[in-house]
Amino acid sequence: MNVNAPAYVKNPKLVAWVAEMAALCKPDTVYWCDGSQEEYDRLCQQLVDAGTFTKLNAAKRPNSFLACSDPSDVARVEDRTYICSEKKENAGPTNNWMAPAEMRATLNPLFDGCMKGRTMYVVPFSMGPMGSHIAHVGIELSDSAYVAVNQRIMTRMGKAVFDVIGTDGAFVPCVHTVGAPLAAGQADVKWPCSKTKYIVHFPETREIWSYGSGYGGNALLGKKCFALRIASNMGRAASEGPSGNPGWLAEHMLILGVTNPQGKKYHVAAAFPSACGKTNFSMLVPPEGFDGWKVTTIGDDIAWIKPNADGKLYAINPEAGYFGVAPGTNFHTNPNCMASLDKDVIFTNVALTDDGDVWWEGMEKDTGKLPDHLIDWQGKDWTPAIAKETGAKAAHPNARFTVAATNNPALDSQWDDANGVAIDAFIFGGRRSTTVPLVTEARSWTEGVYMAATMGSETTAAAAGQQGVVRRDPFAMLPFMGYNMSDYFQHWLDMGDKLATAGAKLPSIYCVNWFRKGEDGKFVWPGYGENMRVLKWMIDRIEGQAQGAENVFGVSPTYDEINWTGLNFTADQFKTVTSIDKAAWVDELKLHEELFTQLAYHLPVEMTATKVALAARLEA
Ligand code: OXD
Ligand code: MN
Repeated sequence: MNVNAPAYVKNPKLVAWVAEMAALCKPDTVYWCDGSQEEYDRLCQQLVDAGTFTKLNAAKRPNSFLACSDPSDVARVEDRTYICSEKKENAGPTNNWMAPAEMRATLNPLFDGCMKGRTMYVVPFSMGPMGSHIAHVGIELSDSAYVAVNQRIMTRMGKAVFDVIGTDGAFVPCVHTVGAPLAAGQADVKWPCSKTKYIVHFPETREIWSYGSGYGGNALLGKKCFALRIASNMGRAASEGPSGNPGWLAEHMLILGVTNPQGKKYHVAAAFPSACGKTNFSMLVPPEGFDGWKVTTIGDDIAWIKPNADGKLYAINPEAGYFGVAPGTNFHTNPNCMASLDKDVIFTNVALTDDGDVWWEGMEKDTGKLPDHLIDWQGKDWTPAIAKETGAKAAHPNARFTVAATNNPALDSQWDDANGVAIDAFIFGGRRSTTVPLVTEARSWTEGVYMAATMGSETTAAAAGQQGVVRRDPFAMLPFMGYNMSDYFQHWLDMGDKLATAGAKLPSIYCVNWFRKGEDGKFVWPGYGENMRVLKWMIDRIEGQAQGAENVFGVSPTYDEINWTGLNFTADQFKTVTSIDKAAWVDELKLHEELFTQLAYHLPVEMTATKVALAARLEA
């Protein structure tokens, strides 16, 4: 098939691959995206004409749109996500696996003719600043214009990517289809998708094939599929062989800058499971008592982290936009985010107001009242009375906004720096109502890796399935790990060893839990901007200005070491969020044991040794 590649596409392998995929998927046309504003506007208008987008009131929300998905296509589908490595043990026990040949035999008939009646968009994108030594590029072929316009916000998308690829440069091939071919004359629906879904990664050949969903991480393949599952493989592979190269890390982490009143700046990378406030934390506004402190955003979801010649770990945000959870976002939880959403936004699955603006649960906290009437994310009438009677949510709990990082008033001046920023601390946080204290510092790199590896969290609406159950979510990477989880722990340990041996000072590692509840079932810690108080304690530790108190688990702050100016938080409340319940920890260790049994193949001995030491301290 002649795919009419523009003259500036100079890579024969790339053109041959597009032609091969076009021959398989049989789109009516192939369209090469150039990433221009004119193209974005044109595709958005096309989506309005197709009924997929509703253009919002330009006076209230300039150049913004609302898309409402099919009710069956609202979240990442973890049970349909596969890592198809040659050997099953390389995908490991936490991933779905199928042999590559078998998966190809399954996918080929599904992809055959899957784009009939549609356009195949060729979307060139860079994950990370174009040309950065930490960045990598990909090409996504998709039959969804919604994907093309979202990718323009979420990645550095456009023509210049072909210059990076040149005549023989590498790129990650990503193929996406909504899996809804149109017969001649068949009318389209607003949100085409298929009941059958496959989100497939071939780590050895670094390919991504996605079938049947148009939503978020299932379809915007730069995000979880490339930047985490494939990139984690790339980072580890770089450490293999005799070169002594420590490799690099692809992490489910926000990156923030924090500057003290004296102008000294620190950088922190923090891992939390989906929908646990990563965007809020990355845009934090320091509260009363923190005059002169500034927090700035480098990334809100993913970090690629590479050691530099100076021995430090440098991080970039491979993305260029935020695909954040809307419900719960308001001027109290995240004022910078609300300001980011003023214009140029694509909203998905929030509610439409009668004056053509958007609304989601949580916004009533800003206005003090619920709207009288809305059209909910499923196109139905919504009123407070209906909500009271039926429990209907106006916005889907996993409703999202897609917005460019450059809309963020708290954007870090180095967010686009090709060299990244030097990381001073890692934070790992789960959502736990009990057991895990507010903040604990690991006494060593190994203890930090153990904390991250054994992290548990209550599940959220970001993934299809049951919500609110505690599951082990090592490094907040459970749904995103592209290879064997135990090998990943080993990669972290090896990297620490190599850097320490070379004389580097490793970042400190902290475990946090903002989500402990009191006997009344309510969160005790106020969270959001108040998390600055914990961040400041971490910096004091890094500077040797806080001694902390050792407990069985690590080092935690004393009440007096936290700056409480402007917040009424009593020593008793502090005890509620920091206390270590020994019986609960004995039970918790049983769950660590269960995890280690599951991950026994290649589990680093350091993990079991750390657990034994922890158990001994609990008994003492
Ligand atoms: C996300 C997720 O969308 O983690 O970032 O689910
Ligand atoms: Mn995420």
